[in-house]
Amino acid sequence: MTLQNDLLLRTARGELTERAPVWMMRQAGRVLPEYRAVREQAGSFITLAKTPELAAEVTIQPVDAFGVDAAIIFSDILVIPEAMGLPYEMVESRGPVFPETVRTMDDLKRLRVADAESDLGYVLDAIKLTKKELNGRVPLIGFAGAPFTIFCYMTEGKGSKTFSVAKKLLYTDPDFAHALLQQITDSTIGYLQAQIQAGADLVQIFDSWAGILSPEQYRTFSLPYIKQICDLITGTPDREVPITVFAKGAFFARQEIGQLSCDVVGLDWNMDPHESRQLIPDRVLQGNLDPCVLYADFAQIRAEVKRMFDGFGHQHYIANLGHGIYPDTDRDKARCFVDAVKELGAV
Ligand code: CP3
Repeated sequence: MTLQNDLLLRTARGELTERAPVWMMRQAGRVLPEYRAVREQAGSFITLAKTPELAAEVTIQPVDAFGVDAAIIFSDILVIPEAMGLPYEMVESRGPVFPETVRTMDDLKRLRVADAESDLGYVLDAIKLTKKELNGRVPLIGFAGAPFTIFCYMTEGKGSKTFSVAKKLLYTDPDFAHALLQQITDSTIGYLQAQIQAGADLVQIFDSWAGILSPEQYRTFSLPYIKQICDLITGTPDREVPITVFAKGAFFARQEIGQLSCDVVGLDWNMDPHESRQLIPDRVLQGNLDPCVLYADFAQIRAEVKRMFDGFGHQHYIANLGHGIYPDTDRDKARCFVDAVKELGAV
């Protein structure tokens, strides 16, 4: 099916466009009362994510509510551990929790490489249904966590500010760390290929915890696995699907990330636009508005959007936040951000 709005895809492929496209990380979710209503109806986050009709509905909500140039499939990065044999729970106001963790080679023996079709069919069905219901309005983004970020949750068992259990393993048992990272990588490659097969128009890799590593550790425990994923996805023969790598906090690795076989590099708000352009000269950049700017007044939001364009320019650029939108953001402020990009982002 031809897309009516293919601005994001043309930009991601490196083409010059009439304006910068815009979407927001975590755009589907608690900011929208209509999301909360569907989540209520589903009973839990996990049931919602596993019911393709409802997942498709909440995926499309932000396209209607905000006028963004892309939808991102409603799911979570933690479906991969579950598909490998390590189920998670989503605990209200605490976030994800794994009742069991993986910290030794013996623990690892109980896990398997995920099979996308049999273990994650519900995500693939949600993608197919969403594509049908979007009917070509905007492209659909698929996604997965970077292996290192998934490793953090599987070993730590829950969210953390420091992920010191996960990091400790990098020092005390690097062989185990590499074995688990490789199994996550193999699972993720099959999963992203299946998402592309199901209709995802672009895929994004979220390395949300990249920033807790030193440059040397990042080079050892994260980049090589993201590289494997990029190389294999770029090599997928039947479709040309752009890849975005978003490594939050990895300001120190921008140059190396910019040399991966990816199309777009996502940036957070700690990363200066000019400096990022210098470090990553030949990739499309995405980001990087501090989500807290959306607590400011309308005039300030517009001023910050203008500042972003002054830094990044209008081409080879996808406007976004520097991380996920916070759940208590006023929806009119989110809408203001999108409208400001559409106005100020025109060439
Ligand atoms: O709109 C979208 O971006 C699509 C949906 C999406 C979700 N999670 C839904 C979700 C995406 C892309 C994710 C990715 C994700 N999940 C990441 C990477 C991006 C990032 O923010 O760094 C991470 C680290 C996770 C793990 C995760 N899931 C955490 C830490 C939490 C709890 C924090 C929170 O926001 O509540 C979740 C839960 C989650 N994932 C929710 C949503 C809408 C909230 C659950 C609910 O509705 O109760």
